[in-house]
Amino acid sequence: MSITALEESVPIRGLEGVVAADTTISFVDGVHGRLLYQGYDIHDIAEEMTYAETVFLLWRGRLPSLAERDAFRSKLVAEMRLPSQVVEMLRLTPPNSHPMAVLRTAVSMLANFDPDVENLSPEANWRKARRLLAQVPTIIADLHRIRSGLPLLSPDPDFDVPGNFLYMLRGSSPTTLERRAMEVLMVLLADHELNASTFTARVIASTLSDMHSAISGALGALKGSLHGGANQRVMEMILDISDVGTVQAYIAGMLENRKRIMGFGHRVYRTEDPRTRHLRKFSELLCESRNQVHLYEISRRIEQAVREAKGIYPNVDFYSATVQHALGIPPEYFTAVFAASRTAGWIAHIMEQYADNRLIRPDSHYIGEMSLPFLPIEERTA
Ligand code: COA
Repeated sequence: MSITALEESVPIRGLEGVVAADTTISFVDGVHGRLLYQGYDIHDIAEEMTYAETVFLLWRGRLPSLAERDAFRSKLVAEMRLPSQVVEMLRLTPPNSHPMAVLRTAVSMLANFDPDVENLSPEANWRKARRLLAQVPTIIADLHRIRSGLPLLSPDPDFDVPGNFLYMLRGSSPTTLERRAMEVLMVLLADHELNASTFTARVIASTLSDMHSAISGALGALKGSLHGGANQRVMEMILDISDVGTVQAYIAGMLENRKRIMGFGHRVYRTEDPRTRHLRKFSELLCESRNQVHLYEISRRIEQAVREAKGIYPNVDFYSATVQHALGIPPEYFTAVFAASRTAGWIAHIMEQYADNRLIRPDSHYIGEMSLPFLPIEERTA
């Protein structure tokens, strides 16, 4: 870049409003609160479609037939087992390391056992895609059982991936309501346009690095509290409040101290996130079924208090917290569950990037010195 161009370049903080890719995978209309996957409305998808059907749509760009959906579902469930060395690694991690840190390491380690890892042909990439999507939930379930001193379970072919995740995590068969709630959660979290982790995955794929590297990088981006890490902190806040009567004062106190309320606000949505409606419904149904209605009521009251004070809406993390809690998932695993769901979208974007690739390499605005006199080391003072 020339010096003149360099002086004129102005960085766009947070890349807000910068268009960095063409995509057909998902579309977010933040003004009207719309979300589409491959052209289909998220409300139709959340109400009508299964998890396997949704992943097929995201990956292939069209709705599957019944036979295609069922074959895809069976293939995914058949890929859920982990290499024994990866399970051994899970056992070796310190019990206090964050599940997202373990998941990031496990996905990176899986690459070493994947026969297709360095083969970037579309056929090999789809094989890796299925394996990764199926193995990530198993890593989370196995880690939880190892840390709880419980035996590991094999996937049950009668359940799909979300049902198997719950079964392998908890050791008991999920109810119909629980299976549907887990499925809808994973469907709603599966993709969301060019968010920070998806962009990270696309940047890595654009160097023609492998799919496991791109997913490992995306996991690192999702781990942060401004992205996927918010859901755990939402649940910690709800449990900390514990009483509906104290919500107003608790939220007012946080805002007075200029603290951010986790699970609220969004870079793109200026109205309610369309995914909230479905998660709010399952939060209510599940909390009722577990005799934990107070947690749902606290959530509703927080929503009201933040809306009144700041005029902002809950994002996808807010009700996903009570949904996961009522499903028996410990809060420290919430972000990892988000990752298991978002792996579907990351893979769709990685494949889209590979299919029409150009190395992603933006510029920076240099604001440092330009002509400092060089001093030999002997002449420098500390
Ligand atoms: N709690 C309190 N105030 C919030 C807020 C929150 N969660 N989110 C945004 N705001 C306020 C900001 O303080 C700011 O107000 P001000 O103009 O009076 O200073 C205004 O809303 C705009 O915030 P800004 O940080 O510019 O929005 P952003 O687009 O950069 O941030 C998030 C988007 C998601 C990072 C932000 O809303 C946030 O930190 N949310 C909490 C974390 C979270 O839930 N993340 C999950 C995202 S899906």
